[in-house]
Amino acid sequence: MKNVIVLSFMFIAFLFTLASINEIQFDHLSSIKKCATSTSSSSNNSVLPMKSPENDIRILLGIPTMADHHDRRHFLRLIYGTQSVVGAKIDVKFVFCNLTKEDQKVLVALEIIQHNDIIILNCKENMDKGKTYTYFSSLPDMLKPDPDSNSDSDPYPPYHYVIKGDDDTYFRLQKLVDTLIPLPREDLYYGYVIPCPSMDPFVHYMSGMGYLVSWDIVEWIKESEIPKSHLVGPEDKIFGEWMREGRRGKNRFNAKWHMYNYPEPPTRCTHELWPDTVAVHLLKTQEKWIRTLSYFNVTQNLKPSKMYHIP
Ligand SMILES: *[C@@H]1O[C@H](CO)[C@@H](O)[C@H](O)[C@H]1NC(C)=O
Ligand SMILES: *[C@@H]1O[C@H](CO)[C@@H](O)[C@H](O)[C@H]1NC(C)=O
Ligand SMILES: *[C@@H]1O[C@H](CO)[C@@H](O)[C@H](O)[C@H]1NC(C)=O
Repeated sequence: MKNVIVLSFMFIAFLFTLASINEIQFDHLSSIKKCATSTSSSSNNSVLPMKSPENDIRILLGIPTMADHHDRRHFLRLIYGTQSVVGAKIDVKFVFCNLTKEDQKVLVALEIIQHNDIIILNCKENMDKGKTYTYFSSLPDMLKPDPDSNSDSDPYPPYHYVIKGDDDTYFRLQKLVDTLIPLPREDLYYGYVIPCPSMDPFVHYMSGMGYLVSWDIVEWIKESEIPKSHLVGPEDKIFGEWMREGRRGKNRFNAKWHMYNYPEPPTRCTHELWPDTVAVHLLKTQEKWIRTLSYFNVTQNLKPSKMYHIP
């Protein structure tokens, strides 16, 4: 008899979970539609955003690269520097470990002077040995307001959301923001859930193509013993395990199929390019980048001039 009662409680809890997931997804879909109808008119720069900048969502898009990958960073600056976003402030930063060569000291410093978009972590360049942990856990101290600067205007949190994004992923920043607006700003874990056919954001973890967490989770990663004691292994999978073990990310958002792998070659993780896209992953060749950028009409605002002609 007891068992029956327990079971029926579990079933009711399960129904509630299902209902709330559906609600989030539904809200999200309607917001995507809304934005699809409004973006065409907002491409005119003379249209001012309705919200004041203080209300904007603050997002850090951190992209791990290596110190030597200057060309990749220059390319990604072109990709993100040409996108304008309404309703959010997005900082794209490139993240790597300690410099190791003399020429990097000059070239990386010059990049910083020009772009100020580089984060150098205190680590030795590594894969699957904790760079992701170092990234997230370093941010709270790095972004703590300087006590000497007497500006009261440093907002808290410095960013509402922090992303770890891949360098072969193309993020469409306005679409990303449109999906975030209806979502909670706390305890959020957002991305493309692995395994590929799964639509359940609680099983298992968000793909390394790019995932987002709210600032409270970033602080938790720094404070908690759970990530510290579980560093070695496939980083994004381990990240999901921290979330589960620490019971974090009660709010989850499965951004599939707004995020997906590039259509060719087709797998269970791919999707056709389509307008409601937040991110396309596995852009491993120039040809794939170009096809993606062309599909999304990224050059349509090019101003005509006598100085050039592009057919
Ligand atoms: C933007 O709006 C202004 C004023 O309404 C108009 O003169 C201009 O042609 C518009 N530009 C574009 C690119 O639509
Ligand atoms: C990284 O560089 C800093 C400053 O040069 C140094 O103090 C630190 O020990 C280095 N860390 C590693 C892991 O090599
Ligand atoms: C790109 O522009 C073409 C032609 O104006 C239009 O038909 C298409 O819908 C646009 N694609 C996207 C993804 O906005």
